[in-house]
Amino acid sequence: MPEPAVFLFVCCQFGCEKTCKRELLSRYTGLRFAFSRPGFMTFKVTDESIRPGKFQLVSTFARVWGWSRGKAKSHEPKELAAAVTEIISAVENSSHFTMLHCWQRDTAMPGKSGFEPGISPVAKEAGQHLLDAFTPQRPNLRLNGISQPGQPTLCVVLVERDEWWMGWHDAATITQQWPGGAPAIELPQMVVSRAWLKMHEAVLWGQVPIQKGDVVAEIGSAPGGAAQFLLERGVTVIAIDPAQMDPTVAEHPSLLHVRRRARDVPKRVLKDVRWLTIDVNMPPSYTIEVIRDYVQIRGLPVRGIIATLKLPDWKLAEDIDNYRQQFFQLGFPFVETRQLAFNRQELCLVALRKRRTASRPRR
Ligand SMILES: C[S@@+](CC[C@H](N)C(=O)[O-])C[C@H]1O[C@@H](n2cnc3c(N)ncnc32)[C@H](O)[C@@H]1O
Repeated sequence: MPEPAVFLFVCCQFGCEKTCKRELLSRYTGLRFAFSRPGFMTFKVTDESIRPGKFQLVSTFARVWGWSRGKAKSHEPKELAAAVTEIISAVENSSHFTMLHCWQRDTAMPGKSGFEPGISPVAKEAGQHLLDAFTPQRPNLRLNGISQPGQPTLCVVLVERDEWWMGWHDAATITQQWPGGAPAIELPQMVVSRAWLKMHEAVLWGQVPIQKGDVVAEIGSAPGGAAQFLLERGVTVIAIDPAQMDPTVAEHPSLLHVRRRARDVPKRVLKDVRWLTIDVNMPPSYTIEVIRDYVQIRGLPVRGIIATLKLPDWKLAEDIDNYRQQFFQLGFPFVETRQLAFNRQELCLVALRKRRTASRPRR
């Protein structure tokens, strides 16, 4: 009997499929593109080395991925849930699954018309149907919690209301531990800008050890969502931006607003800075130039950087390896890139001088 074909499913940002597909196909010669909807793709595996247990997908643009087990179609959610249970039970030794992640593919660019990645009401309802259908065989199955590292996790993606795709992964990375690859972040009552979400996700994903009392230079700081997040964590913020900051942030006693462009900031203001965060609406080459200027200030021991690299043209994604290289050359041996769930047409780069110590994501 020939081995059944192996497929991967991949979720990415709505509208980023071409970029994600290009990245994956150029990195993995053992993948063939199979199917695509906005924010969702599958790939046929043509290489024996891409198999469960010995393969982890490395990607900037894949938000989450897993081993695909195909799809079920019906207009009735209960029937869909029953079909998923049947397919999964037929092909997997499903007794070892104790976590179920059920989410909907993105329906818009994050931040557009109020859309943000996460578990939508439709996915919540679908998850409940699935739980009901699975319960007789697997009473311990939990829905949409954070998986333990390495925990086999069932994945159901609502690609359409009447078309659910299913698969699994082993939650080997922090992002696979989050349902749909997006952290469940509760927004405070008032956030100054979406940058609050981006900074929160960046710190969680990058496990960036910024501590209470550290001084951060936040470049491109207005109106102040990222600064707001940092201030809430007890960080001192040097906010650098010619534009006005939101008064709720500007008046915080631990914030100093330097109302200038990054390159016009007097060096003495920066003497206690240990971390750089930067999000300016300029191309990556400019952002990296500014970082280089700051990192090369004598006596400024920058421990790490969180940079948003804007991609006004998706073609810039082809230069990611070159961007990473520039951070290595600046003396940051640990560099990772990811298009965060809360990013828009941009990506997040975290560069650290020292390897972080592993920690568990918290809700
Ligand atoms: C996307 S917004 C930043 C959002 C901000 N981090 C927040 O938390 O709300 C980009 C900001 O970069 C600022 N900017 C652009 N070029 C800059 C430069 N050379 N130096 C400092 N700020 C700059 C703009 O004035 C704008 O406020």
